[in-house]
Amino acid sequence: MSTQHHFDVLIIGTGSAGLMSALQLSDDLSIALIAKDKVLEGSSYYAQGGVSAVLDSNDDFESHIKDTLSTGNGLGNESTVRFMVEQAPAAIKALEESGVVFTQKDNQYHLTTEGGHSHRRVAHVADKTGQSIQTNLLDSVKEKTNITLFENFIAIDLLTKDQHCYGAYVLNKATNEVESFITHKTIVATGGASKAYLYTSNPDTSTGDGIAMAYRGGCHIVNMEFTQFHPTCLYHPHAKSFLISEALRGEGAKLILPNGEQFMHKYDQRAELAPRDIVARAIDSEMKTHGFDCVYLDISFKDKDWIESHFPTIAKKCASFGIDISQDPIPVVPAAHYTCGGIQADIHAQSNIDNLYAVGEVAHAGVHGANRMASNSLLECVVFAKACANHINQQDLKSQHLNFDDWDASRVSLSKEKVMVTHLWDEIRRIMWNFVGIVRSNKRLHSAQMRLTQIQNEVDEYYRLYLISSDLIELRNLVSTAQLIVRSAISRTESRGLHYNEDYPQTSDKAKDTIIDS
Ligand code: FAD
Ligand code: SIN
Repeated sequence: MSTQHHFDVLIIGTGSAGLMSALQLSDDLSIALIAKDKVLEGSSYYAQGGVSAVLDSNDDFESHIKDTLSTGNGLGNESTVRFMVEQAPAAIKALEESGVVFTQKDNQYHLTTEGGHSHRRVAHVADKTGQSIQTNLLDSVKEKTNITLFENFIAIDLLTKDQHCYGAYVLNKATNEVESFITHKTIVATGGASKAYLYTSNPDTSTGDGIAMAYRGGCHIVNMEFTQFHPTCLYHPHAKSFLISEALRGEGAKLILPNGEQFMHKYDQRAELAPRDIVARAIDSEMKTHGFDCVYLDISFKDKDWIESHFPTIAKKCASFGIDISQDPIPVVPAAHYTCGGIQADIHAQSNIDNLYAVGEVAHAGVHGANRMASNSLLECVVFAKACANHINQQDLKSQHLNFDDWDASRVSLSKEKVMVTHLWDEIRRIMWNFVGIVRSNKRLHSAQMRLTQIQNEVDEYYRLYLISSDLIELRNLVSTAQLIVRSAISRTESRGLHYNEDYPQTSDKAKDTIIDS
């Protein structure tokens, strides 16, 4: 018999959404917090720009709401956006209570700005906001005796029956044993799916696991066509997934062609500070028109000391590749960065399956619409983690735990064909980059769909025959998520926000979410 764990709450994922959910839950509840990798590994740790909130007396909630909805191109839910924006100052406070010290100037927050914001409202810790948030939240979690951390435990599938969730099957990567976590409540906080693309700013953890598991478990999945491409990732053969924060543009950095010519004013009057969909498409268009491998971001007009105090991580990383950003423009390209769609979740982070919640990038809470505004994601994580925990804290969790069968591994054998996994993994990411990228067409989307359906069948067969492994779990989720992105993209017969289809260049008068249910 394999190991069974019984807890009140299972939280899958230890990014800012998962850690904050754990901290906000009542101390009376027993909580299992699992991470498929090292606890700190995940997008949250690498966040640079910051957390948006109205913290300046010249700014106001209405303006933050308006900017968020306008960046979302008609698909953001106004009441949910209002809820998030009004909770933002409290979210900053909650982060400070766990030990985060935001950068100050003259005893006030040093607020920066990014694309789409009409005021300076991004609180940050230099350019390592995520690192500070994650290390402080984790320290706070470790002080709690009701929380048990499971590192290198990867969730395989949710335990669902009759529209209820009772926990998850989880692979212990150290023992290769599948263990059952039987719980009253399950919170999915597994982050996004940008690893579905060949080039991404995200760490390896972003394989869409939560979205794929929830879809298999019966959840509604919303707006998956809106993958956000960050305009500026470092372009260098040895730089894997390194972001050059939009905050550089917030502080005046210019995008230029190799000959030094600026181009953003041709695309939008906000130029470098237009929302990301516009900037990424402009760069893509310039690169394709001129056949360039990259464009450049120039902040060399600022002096070295200023740059090193505001952007120490970026300056150091670029220097490690021989680029002195106080002298040289930085070579940059767009890369997949953020999954705006996800598991349908209400204002308490509840999904359509009982006892199952979704928080953070994995969720579609309705705040980002067709394009997320910069620095609204960490905010979403904190605000909805609190909302989710409050909802669970108010309930009586004394009901009986259900019994589930142990994982059955009796009919599978050890694979001698591991190359299948690596090959298909690579193929999916290339298909998505080439056929489902910044600019789409019907033909490319349908080609992607055909090949992904074949890959899904191959993966399903492999999954039935061979012993489970972490790579196989991720491959299975990656192909499912890629299919959800393509299905959603095909069903949207217009261009809106991050989804641009050259066969339907117009935006429809009627703004509608894409909802897929199993
Ligand atoms: P993540 O932080 O990605 O955490 C996911 C967790 O789930 C990880 O612990 C992972 O191990 C775990 N997990 C995944 N699958 C499984 C599984 N099957 N079983 C068990 N565990 C699993 N947003 C902002 O608002 N401001 C910024 O400045 C900013 N900068 C960014 C910079 C970079 C480089 C990147 C990549 C993103 C940035 N973003 C920023 C976006 C933001 O960081 C993310 O959207 C946010 O951190 C997501 O948090 P999360 O908790 O939902 O997921
Ligand atoms: C950045 O610093 O450019 C990333 C901010 C974000 O994704 O919100």
